[in-house]
Amino acid sequence: MTTGEPIAPAEPPTADHLPQGRSRRRRRVVVLVAGTGGGVVLGLIAATVLALLGIIGPARVDTVGEVDFDQELAIPPLAESHLDEDGRRVFDLTAREGRTQFLPGGQQTGTWGVNQDYLGPTLRAHRGEEVLLQVTNDLTETTTMHWHGMHLPAAMDGGPHQEIEPGQTWSPTWLIDQPAATLWYHPHTHGLTELHVGRGLAGLFILDDDESAELDIPAEYGVDDIPVIVQDRSFDDQGRVTVASASGPAGPLGDELLVNGTLGPYLDVTTERVRLRLLNASAARTYSFAADDGRDLMLIGTDGGLLEAPVALEEVMLSPGERAEVVVTMSPGENVVLRSNPPDLGVAAMQDRASGGQDTFDVLELRAAASLTESAPLPTELVPMPQLDPSQADEHREFELRSFEINGQPMDMNRVDFTATVDSTEVWELRNVHGDPHNFHVHDVQFQVLTVDGRTPPAHLSGWKDTIYLPPDVPTRVIMRFSDYADAEVPYMYHCHLLWHEDEGMMGQFVVVEEGTDPVTELPGEDHEGAGGDHDHHVGRHQH
Ligand code: C2O
Ligand code: CU
Ligand code: CU
Repeated sequence: MTTGEPIAPAEPPTADHLPQGRSRRRRRVVVLVAGTGGGVVLGLIAATVLALLGIIGPARVDTVGEVDFDQELAIPPLAESHLDEDGRRVFDLTAREGRTQFLPGGQQTGTWGVNQDYLGPTLRAHRGEEVLLQVTNDLTETTTMHWHGMHLPAAMDGGPHQEIEPGQTWSPTWLIDQPAATLWYHPHTHGLTELHVGRGLAGLFILDDDESAELDIPAEYGVDDIPVIVQDRSFDDQGRVTVASASGPAGPLGDELLVNGTLGPYLDVTTERVRLRLLNASAARTYSFAADDGRDLMLIGTDGGLLEAPVALEEVMLSPGERAEVVVTMSPGENVVLRSNPPDLGVAAMQDRASGGQDTFDVLELRAAASLTESAPLPTELVPMPQLDPSQADEHREFELRSFEINGQPMDMNRVDFTATVDSTEVWELRNVHGDPHNFHVHDVQFQVLTVDGRTPPAHLSGWKDTIYLPPDVPTRVIMRFSDYADAEVPYMYHCHLLWHEDEGMMGQFVVVEEGTDPVTELPGEDHEGAGGDHDHHVGRHQH
């Protein structure tokens, strides 16, 4: 299990490395529930009772008022690109090792990044463009790069079958053909996703389209359109990333937050309205973002695109992998703290506490300048949202999530769990039949939510989604359309995006085929992983 595995420190530990006078947040003691020898059962019963009473168990984390906000929020650079002779927009991405000093004056941590020491640049492309991603692996281990939320051929998807060996370059190419949205990229190496993302391989992939370009909404990257990539981490006394401070049913949890890799971040706001592109890039933790004074966050977009109309929310909950675009309105000279309140995970008290369900964080301080550039009022309408019609569905499927399995089976790289057909609409019923938190993510398509527990979903679930939180025993019905990219040999994934669960096998795979093709149940041979993109600098094929 990779849970809690530390990122290798770049420097040996030495004492007295913290700058004097810096107030770090109070360290919290994690009390592990344990018993020994013949006393195990009694010990566990006692521990359970005590945990239920809230006496022992993972300590609640509450960083409100304890975060210094003394580092300027890093804004990931926009990735450079050029057009090749075929008119394709070409990006060069190199996954490499780096060293990152998260705490001012503290020690460096050995990290991974894309074209930089930690995280990666923001990719940006317009609907209708063809893109070519040249992804080079400069690491000493095999990795992959997945375009989360992207509609694209399976061979370009960067799932666990499209491995990139050290020294190799993988060059997927596809046409951007979906609405403007905040997508992201990260490795998807089977069994190692948590580790590779945790070390720092992740970035945003912003899509634009003609409709979004015409809307009068904050859109100046790094000025009033701000990436907010949130990850929980734990640090040792020297300021290096260390083992998770707690580990519960959702996976490993950190007790401090990084935003775009910045610990204790503030953002100087110069405009009346600011758009935050929130990405939960954490392994296990779910957030419920809110302003510290309870002012509305205007939700304008979800995973796969803009909403029909802005929705005023006091809190925006995001489980791992989900995104939301919110607009915050500021007054001159004020400071507003983006906070994460205890998320409503819908699980029983003990699991809740051990899954971070009772934790509160100060996330990011927004500091408004003494005078702010005026911003246009938010449009009352954003983009049209054509509704997929469940009465036209060609196929209904059910997915039950329990332990590390979906429909009673763990992930098998050679098994194809189902076959979808081009030009068909499918309704999926998703159920978490387990007491622990899970969510559900599907590749290739964006879906619409039909019902949550049999009822019309709330307004914040009215837009395109590719990842959705599943509270226990709340059946959620979603609808999606498979429109193209038939390939009987390369599968897409669906899985829980709590990365420990995914790594442990809470994942399945499907193929999309032309109508009239036989269903596929198995992948042909072991050589299928090379099916996508060009492999230059080929250095031999890894066997699964
Ligand atoms: Cu963000 Cu299959 O992953
Ligand atoms: Cu994905
Ligand atoms: Cu899960």
